[in-house]
Amino acid sequence: MKRTPLVAGNWKMYKTIAETRQLVPELVRGLKEIQGVQKVICPPFTALMAVKALLEGTDIHIGAQNLFWEQEGAYTGEISPKMVAEICEYVIIGHSERRTYFGETDESVNRKVVAALGAGLTVIMCVGETLDENENGLTEAVTQKQVKVGLANIDLKLSAQGEVPLLIAYEPVWAIGTGKAATGEFANKVVGEVIRPTLASMYGEQIANSIRVLYGGSVKANNAAEFFGQSEIDGALVGGASLKADEFVGIVRAAVED
Ligand code: PGA
Repeated sequence: MKRTPLVAGNWKMYKTIAETRQLVPELVRGLKEIQGVQKVICPPFTALMAVKALLEGTDIHIGAQNLFWEQEGAYTGEISPKMVAEICEYVIIGHSERRTYFGETDESVNRKVVAALGAGLTVIMCVGETLDENENGLTEAVTQKQVKVGLANIDLKLSAQGEVPLLIAYEPVWAIGTGKAATGEFANKVVGEVIRPTLASMYGEQIANSIRVLYGGSVKANNAAEFFGQSEIDGALVGGASLKADEFVGIVRAAVED
């Protein structure tokens, strides 16, 4: 089954509005000619409007890095799904940094995914095992539970275009920001033997085969092809390398050349 590749840049807590005005025009120039891959950038909340304005008239989509599940209310410092949906099409949910530093659990991820889908957003839900879990042979158990609980009680339907508004990003925590990417073969095995079968057990083969699964963790222009060449990997969620225009453009280009 053919799935359109997608490359998303997760800027994390980098880039002021002023810095954004430098980077985005470079990205727009570099990405303009590249077709056949969906491109998404996820700046911090404070830069979303500026980035959106800079992306007008391009085919680059915009996403947020998080949201809260309530629609509105007395939740100081939080951003609701409908606020995100006014600006963005995509949202990253359950990134390992949010799980590690901000106490997110599979259950809170689930509430956020429900709320985001309800607001019409396309969700990039992150899963992945820590180094400790990996070394203790828990990769399968952990990623399976993250998918099952993260998507509990969520009904997914195919659109007329044969798509669902959900992507999974498989990001082994030990590979994020460390410069130590997983091998393409390892990531492909986790996606093909754990993540997609778990999705199939929940939603059936057709929907499972339509869900794009990204790899994330130290993806660079010079190793991206190793991941995009794998049958089960449909793109990348890119952190550090998405802050440099030439790197990000190189990664997006590798997704098409595959
Ligand atoms: P990295 O981050 O590319 O800097 O390893 C990936 C991510 O956190 O999504």
